Amino acid sequence: MKAMNEMSVSFLSVSANESFARAVVAAFASQLDPTIDQLADLKTAVSEAVTNAIVHGYRETLGTVYITAKLYETGKIVVRVRDKGVGIPDVEKAMEPLFTTGGEERAGLGFAVMQSFCDKVAVRSALGKGTTVTLHKSLLRRGREHE
Ligand SMILES: Nc1ncnc2c1ncn2[C@@H]1O[C@H](COP(=O)(O)OP(=O)(O)OP(=O)(O)O)[C@@H](O)[C@H]1O
Ligand SMILES: [Mg+2]
Repeated sequence: MKAMNEMSVSFLSVSANESFARAVVAAFASQLDPTIDQLADLKTAVSEAVTNAIVHGYRETLGTVYITAKLYETGKIVVRVRDKGVGIPDVEKAMEPLFTTGGEERAGLGFAVMQSFCDKVAVRSALGKGTTVTLHKSLLRRGREHE
C-alpha cells in the first residue's frame, strides 16, 4: 500500500526532545482527524519509544534519533523510531512486562504501554548497530469506515 503522506525528522538524543517528538508526530497525525484519545495514545507510545532510544539506545552517549511517519488512506499511521545505539540482545525478553535493565528508576513497562496503545508494535534490533521500533495504529473514527 502506498502512503498518502510521509514525514521524517531527526534530533539529538537529549531528553528535552521527548516532548518535541510526541508533538511533531501528533501534529502530523492530526490531518487524519483522530479523536483526542487516539492522539493521546499515539503520543504516549511515541514517547516511550523515543525515551528508550535516548535512555537505553544511547545510554550515556549522545546520538541521533530518527523518526519517520507514514499516513495511509485507510486511516492508519505507521511511526518508526530508530536509534543507532547499543541494540537489544534479546528482543522477546526485553518486551516482557516488567523486564528492565534500567534499575530502580525504570518500571519495565514501556513496551507494554506501546503495545496496549497501538494495534501492532514491531521491534528490530542488532547489537552494536541499533534498534527500530515500528508502531502501527488506526486513527479511523468509529462510524466513519464507510464514508
Ligand atoms: N532503543 C533501545 N536500545 C537498547 N535497549 C532498549 C531499547 N529499548 C528498550 N531497550 C531494552 O528493553 C528494556 C525494556 O524496555 P521498556 O521500555 O519496556 O522498559 P524500561 O525502559 O526499562 O522502563 P520504562 O519504560 O517503564 O521506564 C529496557 O530496560 C532496555 O534494556
Ligand atoms: Mg522504556
